[in-house]
Amino acid sequence: MSLGIAVVGAGYWGPNLVRNFRSSPEWDLVAVCDLDEARARKVIGARSTVDVETSLDALLARDDVDAIAIATPARTHSPIALAALRAGKHVLVEKPLADSREAAAEMVAEAAARDLVLMTDHTYAYTSPVVRIGELIAEGVLGDILFIDSVRINLGLIQPDVDVFWDLAPHDLSIFDYILPGGLRPDTVSAHGADPLGTGKACVGYLTMPLPGGAIAHVHVNWLSPTKIRQMVIGGSRRTLVWDDLNPQQRLAVYDRGVDFSASNVDASERAAAAISYRLGDMHAPSLPEREALAGVAAEFADSILNKRAPRTDGHAGVRVLDVLEAASASLASNGAFVTPAGVTTGGAS
Ligand SMILES: NC(=O)c1ccc[n+]([C@@H]2O[C@H](COP(=O)([O-])OP(=O)(O)OC[C@H]3O[C@@H](n4cnc5c(N)ncnc54)[C@H](O)[C@@H]3O)[C@@H](O)[C@H]2O)c1
Repeated sequence: MSLGIAVVGAGYWGPNLVRNFRSSPEWDLVAVCDLDEARARKVIGARSTVDVETSLDALLARDDVDAIAIATPARTHSPIALAALRAGKHVLVEKPLADSREAAAEMVAEAAARDLVLMTDHTYAYTSPVVRIGELIAEGVLGDILFIDSVRINLGLIQPDVDVFWDLAPHDLSIFDYILPGGLRPDTVSAHGADPLGTGKACVGYLTMPLPGGAIAHVHVNWLSPTKIRQMVIGGSRRTLVWDDLNPQQRLAVYDRGVDFSASNVDASERAAAAISYRLGDMHAPSLPEREALAGVAAEFADSILNKRAPRTDGHAGVRVLDVLEAASASLASNGAFVTPAGVTTGGAS
């Protein structure tokens, strides 16, 4: 039995969702909705059996729509998602889940009260490298995480409504949320930004997050870099992983190299004084299957509905990412002071 889906928003990203839901065996794409009818028509193409809707109310009144996927601008996610949930539809929302943590938390509560699936499209969590990194961490191949350093820089479009943190860091944060055991739950966040061109918003950003157990994560996002870099280094107590997303021959490299304490029985209080040695082992590059991440998103959305379970990137994951983004904005406004994310102060209600 296939589920009926409608995609709302046929701009830049919506067509990717349309293409993947169309080719998914679990889904029957029944409609595409956009305020701009011509855009929706262009996406579905000529002689298509898929309907075009320009009214959200009309779309949500349809019995053949079990679920909707929202690819409209972030500020519209919450009103569209809440209307859909109240009409009894399951909802997939593009990242970021909403434009504030408060709006996102309301969406999570509405979905829970109605027993409906609310999923965030954290696309990276469905890519081959990130799935493999998650496995390597879960299997203990890297050992305990000591540090994560993520660089996402390029010559980017300066966005009219958001700074570089809100534009690029959701990707890094959603990846951390997926790969870290227990998800993204830093106790504090510190952000430093620069606006050297005087655009009125940060175009270069550095985000620092101490992690539980003494580890630390750092994200560098930047719209002003002439070269594009997409690199993440994850240092572990056993091995270190380097992910270079722009190197298709060797996206992932796992290094069996690191720092050892010469005496195996030293406890924490003696470590500072203990002599350390360097382990210089091999490097290996795990093979990765070629697959389109959004096909995985479509499959996960259907499976979570059919099996009445939370999806891998549920509404809570979307709220955790927004918690850190809001804490980063607050930190930026107070010159990099460490700020506690809302999810931590509310006892992890998200
Ligand atoms: N997962 C990813 O990697 C990824 C990549 C790019 C964009 N996105 C996300 O996708 C979303 C859309 O981004 P975009 O770049 O495609 O935007 P866009 O501006 O190109 O397209 C948005 C479309 O939504 C339509 N729209 C706006 N309000 C509407 C409403 N109330 N009802 C119906 N249609 C409406 C507009 O007419 C437009 O066609 C954003 O949340 C963005 O963050 C995600």
